[in-house]
Amino acid sequence: VILDRHSRLNSAELEARLKATNFGDGQFPVDQITEFVNLMQVYEGAMYEISTKLEVLDEEFQVRFSHNPVHHIERRLKSISSILGKLERRELPKTVESIKDNLFDVAGVRVICNYRDDVYSVSNYLSAQSDIQVLRVKDYIKNPKQNGYRSLHVIYAVPVFLSSGAHYTPVEVQFRTIAMDYWASLEHALRYKTDLPDVKLSEHSQTLLDCARSLQNIEVQMQNIHRDINGAPQVDEA
Ligand code: GTP
Ligand code: MG
Repeated sequence: VILDRHSRLNSAELEARLKATNFGDGQFPVDQITEFVNLMQVYEGAMYEISTKLEVLDEEFQVRFSHNPVHHIERRLKSISSILGKLERRELPKTVESIKDNLFDVAGVRVICNYRDDVYSVSNYLSAQSDIQVLRVKDYIKNPKQNGYRSLHVIYAVPVFLSSGAHYTPVEVQFRTIAMDYWASLEHALRYKTDLPDVKLSEHSQTLLDCARSLQNIEVQMQNIHRDINGAPQVDEA
């Protein structure tokens, strides 16, 4: 199952929205709008290529091992306002060139796996594919963030073949388990809840950290049951 977090990209609509949006002082240069729309189409292509590769891998696992490692996939293109907001925060120029050089998460794919073993097998098989390159890996599963966040982030460069040839395009892929996703959704909601008193915020943050640890323990136990009934060796990873 693939969930598109936004409707499919429509060039005319995107161009109209870009022209209608007021980006304040550092406006997006009007002469770059067409180039920007074209660029977004390339990111979209790269996002679809990665999703297809993941679906093919998932199908293969189903056929060979009667097991679907991928629970579901989510994907999204970064919105225009998020792109401009990020460039602004980093004090980078608002140009197509600057997007290409500095932003690696314009195309984003989130792979929600059933078990932790699945996270690593799917990501390893994808990373080994000869037509794509691994640009960066951040393993927040082996090294969780201070707040308890866990996920494996890999940035791939994917060739998108256009009339002008192959364009290697970055896609940020976040691999995580259902439990990690469950946790990250709530933590994300808390992060954007700006009207909470500080006391409540820190209380909830602490509870979330405890939840992250509990979920990790539950995951290891369930992973071991799953390994056992599938004849794989058990490993204590808690
Ligand atoms: P930014 O993309 O600017 O955040 O920097 P980065 O590319 O160094 O980020 P990183 O790879 O650490 O994380 C990128 C994405 O992972 C974010 O956009 C989120 O979707 C997700 N993420 C990272 N940290 C957290 C976290 O603490 N909580 C949640 N809910 N999501 C996170
Ligand atoms: Mg990012």
